[in-house]
Amino acid sequence: MKRRRNGGSKHILMLKGKHIVLGISGGIAAYKSVFLLRLLVKEGAEVQVVITPNGKEFITPVTLSALSQHPVVCDFFTANTGEWHSHVSLGLWADLMVIAPATASTMAKMVTGVADNMLVTTYLSAKEHVMVAPAMDLDMWAHPSTQRNIEQLRRDGVEIVMPGSGELASGLSGKGRMAEPEEIVSRIKEYFSRSCDMEGMKVLITAGPTCERIDPVRYIGNYSSGKMGFAIAEECASRGAEVTLVAGPVSLSTVNPSIHRVDVESAVEMCEAARKAFANADVAVFAAAVADYRPAETAESKIKRENADEMTIRMVRNPDIAALCGKMKRAGQTTVGFALETDNERINAAHKLEKKNLDMVVMNSLRDKGAGFRTDTNKITIFAREGSVTEFPLKSKSEVARDIVDAMLRFRGNVDAECER
Ligand code: PMT
Repeated sequence: MKRRRNGGSKHILMLKGKHIVLGISGGIAAYKSVFLLRLLVKEGAEVQVVITPNGKEFITPVTLSALSQHPVVCDFFTANTGEWHSHVSLGLWADLMVIAPATASTMAKMVTGVADNMLVTTYLSAKEHVMVAPAMDLDMWAHPSTQRNIEQLRRDGVEIVMPGSGELASGLSGKGRMAEPEEIVSRIKEYFSRSCDMEGMKVLITAGPTCERIDPVRYIGNYSSGKMGFAIAEECASRGAEVTLVAGPVSLSTVNPSIHRVDVESAVEMCEAARKAFANADVAVFAAAVADYRPAETAESKIKRENADEMTIRMVRNPDIAALCGKMKRAGQTTVGFALETDNERINAAHKLEKKNLDMVVMNSLRDKGAGFRTDTNKITIFAREGSVTEFPLKSKSEVARDIVDAMLRFRGNVDAECER
């Protein structure tokens, strides 16, 4: 009887055929990357290791090439043959790049684009998703510089597998231990399973503030930066959706080239663009902070200061984009609104769900530290039409975006299942 190579038990190779670039930088946690590599290969992935010169001081390329069955890339050239290693083709080959361990220095180079080694140049050429598992001493991890870089990497679309707490190589104890290889592998599997779960779906997202002109130099606006809506757009696009992002005036750029961005200024313009995209959308997420009113007239020239101590601007109501789309909604379309509250959070959120005919409301409260406008984090509670209420802890806006999209897909799945019954 023939024995199976993996010991006879039937094991589904979740990563079969996936091309993974494993980047290893110079930290003691590099020893764990050997186990990580072993697990990836066991799951059927084809792994190409790229190591920094410092990484080679911690583990030998011989071990890594034996396990990956590919030569390990470290230098731009092979010294004796003059052969050039193409970071571009490696970046294009990869379905995923995982950098584990990612040292403080490697992350700083990724943020600033200092491409002085094969690992960072490959990162700059990588077209697909990038995941990093930081590892360093607790004080280095806590340093504002490292934390700034982590935030910037998140904004650049990089997924962070957060370090754990415990004993560190320095003998100190605290946060900075690289995540265990098993945890990294499960994040990789999660990534591949969600990377196509929105394929074929059309999504409309509104984001940012609206600016309502008073005259050529002044407007009425609000504090929205667009970060929440942009994070949702990136999340949907990375999962295969066709995204139309209708954005008010923000200073953000999109990372995923497949996002179709429509820039607008006022609520009326946002409404027009959103209604157009909604006609063909499967899902709409209204994350924008839309002004409820606009000046009844916009002066053509700058309004001059008069001697009067007071001035009054007459305001007229703006269209409610979420409510209008709620009215147009047909079977199969899902609408997700936000509720930005300062008090009576639950009552107000439930009211908006009803009034705007939404399927889900994502409530964020300005009473929660780190939530709402401008921050890189948010704390949300999701209210769904069927009555469920789910609270989430404070997370980065990209993680919050993932929670919202997961909840929305679950909601759609439940609705489909109901219809089939
Ligand atoms: O952009 P950031 O700095 O990252 O901040 C994120 C955020 C705080 C703006 C975001 O998380 C958020 O809460 N967005 C909605 C803000 C808001 O205007 O909430 P609201 O409770 O006033 O509106 C309820 C819902 O109706 C929202 O989905 C809103 O987009 C929509 N609406 C409101 C008024 C209007 N005229 N048209 C609308 O579509």
